[in-house]
Parts: sequence; C-alpha cells; structure tokens
Amino acid sequence: MKRERIFTADASAVVFGPGATREAGARVRALGCRNVLVVTDPRVAELPPVTAAVTSLEEAGVAYELFADVRVEPTDASLRAAIEAAVAGAFDGFVSVGGGSAIDTAKVANLYSTWPEEFMAYVYPPLGQGKQPPGPLKPHVAIPTTAGTGSETTGNAVFDLASAHVKTAIANRLLRPSLGIVDPENTRTMPPMVAACSGLDVLCHALESYTAIAFDEREAVTDPLKRTVYQGANPMSDVWSARAIELCAANLVRAVHDPADDEARHAMCLASTAAGIGFGNAGVTLPHAMSYPVSALARNFFPDGYPTGHAIVPHGMSVILTAPAIFRWQASAKPERHLEAARLMGVDIRGASLDDAGEILSDALTSLMKDVGMPNGLNVVGIVEADLDALVQGTLPQSRITQLAPRPASESDYRDLFAASMTIWSREPL
Ligand SMILES: NC(=O)c1ccc[n+]([C@@H]2O[C@H](COP(=O)([O-])OP(=O)(O)OC[C@H]3O[C@@H](n4cnc5c(N)ncnc54)[C@H](O)[C@@H]3O)[C@@H](O)[C@H]2O)c1
Repeated sequence: MKRERIFTADASAVVFGPGATREAGARVRALGCRNVLVVTDPRVAELPPVTAAVTSLEEAGVAYELFADVRVEPTDASLRAAIEAAVAGAFDGFVSVGGGSAIDTAKVANLYSTWPEEFMAYVYPPLGQGKQPPGPLKPHVAIPTTAGTGSETTGNAVFDLASAHVKTAIANRLLRPSLGIVDPENTRTMPPMVAACSGLDVLCHALESYTAIAFDEREAVTDPLKRTVYQGANPMSDVWSARAIELCAANLVRAVHDPADDEARHAMCLASTAAGIGFGNAGVTLPHAMSYPVSALARNFFPDGYPTGHAIVPHGMSVILTAPAIFRWQASAKPERHLEAARLMGVDIRGASLDDAGEILSDALTSLMKDVGMPNGLNVVGIVEADLDALVQGTLPQSRITQLAPRPASESDYRDLFAASMTIWSREPL
C-alpha cells in the first residue's frame, strides 16, 4: 500500500465575538445575496438570536423568508420539507440560526435546491449513492446558538433516515457554509441539558479526532479531488482538537451550571468552532459511529430542555454514553495520545503508565459526565440488552467513520462496547 503523504485543511470563514450576529446583514449582502431563506427551529425562532439576525438583514436591505420548521435532530422527511421551502422561493442564499439541527437542515436545503437530485443521490454510501454536486452551492451564513456541533465549519449534514432506522450523513466539502458567525451571546438561553449535551459533543469531536488514525496511515489517493473530507489526525487538526479539549475541560461545567458566566460560554463557543475545524478535517471515530443507532432507538426518553413532541436521545448524549468504554478499550492502539488527551483535560499524569492511559481518560470523562448531569448509561435512556443486535447493525453502515478508529473493531467488539455502556459507573454505596 502506498501511504498518504498529503493532508488538506479546509474551514469556513468565521466571524467570532459577542454581538457578531448584528453583522449578519452586512456579511450576507457582501456575499452577493439579496433574498435569503432564514432556517431555524420553532423554539429558537422565538429567541433573541433570530431577532438579531433578521433585524440585521432588514437594516442591510436583504429580503428574507423565515422557515421555522426545522426538526430537532432532522429526519429525511423534515429535510424534504425544508428543500420544498427552498425551491418555492427565488432565494440566492441561506442563513441558518440554531443548533446543528438548523445548520444541517440549511445545508441540505441549499444543496438540493441548487443542484436538484433524487434524495438518496447525495447521501453517503453505503446507504446512498454519495454523488458529488456538480458545482458550488449558494452562499450560506451559519449562526450557531449551541456550543455546539461546529457544523458552521464542516461539510456534513447528519439526519435520521427514518425508513432504515439509522442516522446517516451527506458529506461534501461544498456543503461547508460560506461563513460562520459565532456569537457567545447566542448561547445564553441554552437550557442546562442542551448546554451539557452539545458541550460533550464538542469534547468528543476533539478527543475522537485527536486519537483517530493518522492521515499517513491511510492509503494515498490517486485523484486529489477524491481525497475524503475525513482524512485522519494530522498536524493541523491536532492543534485545533488539542486546544478544544483544554477549553472544554476547563469551562463546560461552569457554562452548564451558570448561563450568566460569560467567560465560560465564550470559551465553549471557541471550543466548539475549534473542534469543528479539527474534526471537520480529521474525522470522528467510534463514539460518533456508535451514537447513531442509539439516537435512532430513542423511544421513551424525554430529557429536560428538549422538545416534548418526540422521544429523543440528544446527539451529544448518545455520543458520550459509549465514550468511556470506547476510549478505555481503544487506548492500547495509541496510548501516548490517550494519555496526552487526559493531560489536556487537566488530569495529573505524572508517573502514569501508558498501560493505564485508557482507564485514566475514561475516568476523566466519567467524572465530567457526572458533573454535568449525564445519565448513567444506555439503560437510563431506555436501551436494553435486547437492543444489542440493532445497535450493532446500526453501527455497521458507519464505515465512513469506523475506518478512522485507532483500533479496528469487529461486530463482537461493538456488541461488547455497547454492553459495557448499559451502566457506566457503579451505584454509590448506600
Ligand atoms: N454537521 C455536523 O458537522 C454535525 C456535528 C455534530 C452534530 N450534528 C447534528 O446536530 C444536531 C444536534 O445539534 P445541537 O446539539 O446543536 O442541538 P439542536 O440544534 O438539536 O437543538 C437542541 C435543542 O436546543 C434548542 N436550542 C438551541 N439553541 C438554543 C438556545 N440558544 N437557547 C435555547 N434553546 C436552544 C433547540 O430549540 C432544540 O430544542 C444533531 O442532529 C447532530 O447529528 C451535526
């Protein structure tokens, strides 16, 4: 095998800082847009970030229509509704305001309204055909209100393919928003559970990309334009991912428990975007791959702070629930990186043995999970041993990311890791 020697570093342009949302109109206009679709979800539609964004559009003389029907954790059906809205107007650009659900929905509405295709055409293989759009999309300015998915910097849109009961993605560099406006004021109203879940998503983006296989462990591509978005850890993604780990560990608990803590919220926004640039180039691994069937199995869990209209295991929660078991299991493949990740999380690793790297990192994660009120394992969110087959089957189509895992996993490994995640920490003695 001829090994890869080249990596790429792609990212959206970013405008960062408190009050930056008020620049949206001028920025959208500068991108050449005069009539945009503003994409948001029903709750965020009522909150200050949307008011600030549309006021700014009005002041800049940019016409807009509001699409406020984003489903929290989109499905193919909810995406189709957004595509219909995008096709119905003569829009020359998109503005998304919200968490990853709104930003991803806008990406997909932009893609299919610009380059119409049958829905599965652009969906990642093996479920879809993975077709490349023939050219650039319309400008898209993404304004996150969670900290967060980093979706404002990535070329992915994740959704639940309801017919197959599986989460999957459309992944393409062209999907990356033209600009991310990251405004820490916009996360002030996040309910604590949304702050916790989206913040743990950030941490896992950073940890997974930092411990993924390296770009030069992969086979070299022959066509440079076919180099995948997710290339494995590389010297540039490491910088973003390592910094994001530090920022999360130092600020997440404060940001969750005190929305008035401006410094912590600011740091979590920075972490979210930094991690987005890191994993947006390096990729994520097993905690994300194994989270998708967990989310797809949500049937009777209604966490605080999330909409009550449908059961949901929020994305960040579904990722973190298997993370302690996975990092403990895979650390032997890259022990130095796992130990360094624990150090970046603030653990004193002086004198620690590399053999204990997985245990140390896993303990640091478990402790953080307790501090931000995460459930103690898959059982608590309604997933039971009888679901193990479905969980394994739902992981298998995620080869796009499982192939980046530092330690290759078999079907029985997935089963063991899910089983070990049913209860994470033992009960406190009475
Ligand atoms: N494209 C990517 O690169 C990428 C990366 C990670 C996750 N995702 C996807 O993003 C989605 C999750 O996004 P998320 O975690 O940002 O949350 P979300 O967009 O799903 O929102 C979660 C809940 O929080 C509410 N909310 C959001 N911001 C708020 C605010 N400031 N104040 C009050 N309420 C607020 C929403 O209304 C919703 O009820 C999942 O579908 C996941 O798969 C995408």
